Amino acid sequence: MYTYALKKQNFELVYFDAFAGTGSIDIGPSNSDEAQADLLADVEDVGPIIDGSAKRALKVERPFDKYIFVEANRSKATELNGLRGEFPELAHRIFVRQGDANAELIAFCRNTNWRRTRAVVFLDPFGSQTGWDTVCEIARTKAIDLWYLFPSMLCVYRQISREGKLSPDKEASIKWLIGTDDWRAEWIATEKQEDLFGNVRSVSEKQVSVDEVTKYMIHRMRAEFKGGVLDSWLPLGPKGRHWYSLIFAWGNPSGKASALTTSLATHVMRRS
Ligand SMILES: C[S@@+](CC[C@H](N)C(=O)[O-])C[C@H]1O[C@@H](n2cnc3c(N)ncnc32)[C@H](O)[C@@H]1O
Repeated sequence: MYTYALKKQNFELVYFDAFAGTGSIDIGPSNSDEAQADLLADVEDVGPIIDGSAKRALKVERPFDKYIFVEANRSKATELNGLRGEFPELAHRIFVRQGDANAELIAFCRNTNWRRTRAVVFLDPFGSQTGWDTVCEIARTKAIDLWYLFPSMLCVYRQISREGKLSPDKEASIKWLIGTDDWRAEWIATEKQEDLFGNVRSVSEKQVSVDEVTKYMIHRMRAEFKGGVLDSWLPLGPKGRHWYSLIFAWGNPSGKASALTTSLATHVMRRS
């Protein structure tokens, strides 16, 4: 949809997959990653091996001008390089970088000429690998459409106990993901309670749901993305559980671009 929508514009169109995997996903019974197998169990073309995001992007009818695949794992990056052989007509457009998604994305955002480039970035981390600063850097380009599988339950909600407790490590990890500590006041209620003997103690309780965590992130992102952030998101996870929230944000502030982007993204959210 994206490459068709922008076909008349004179931009170089880039697909940037920051956690690209290998191009294929093994969901067979021998795959030890049971959670991932569950997650993909309702995919139509289900088989022991299905196409991953990189291969799916290469298969689109109207290809992108450039594909950048980032993968931290060396052997997975080698497999990604093998996609050149599978898609010889696109080989010259494929760039594989073995490295950290944040560093590669920040370099991409800073070193690209955004007057003549537009990009779709897909963030599909296992967990809390994407830093808030990276999200802000993407927004600053005003030229990137972002699909972010934000680990709302896995790396935020679940890290806080019912009593509103979490270790300093977990607290730091949430701050890295969403860029602030302000959530504490909103999500953890603390009140003073007096026992029969007049002793006063503080009692805390977590007062947030996974949906509210997602809305909080959307609200934070909205301050950065001058185009906007879609109100709706897709809850995704194994067996219908809400582990991740697929969030869509776009940087281009022009009204025309926003109308088009919103309608495309809303359609994708509905279709899934
Ligand atoms: C959920 S998987 C991606 C799956 C892929 N989108 C697909 O459809 O096949 C996350 C990938 O990110 C890689 N990864 C983990 N940390 C990373 C980092 N800091 N930078 C880049 N890649 C990373 C993992 O090796 C793993 O292959």
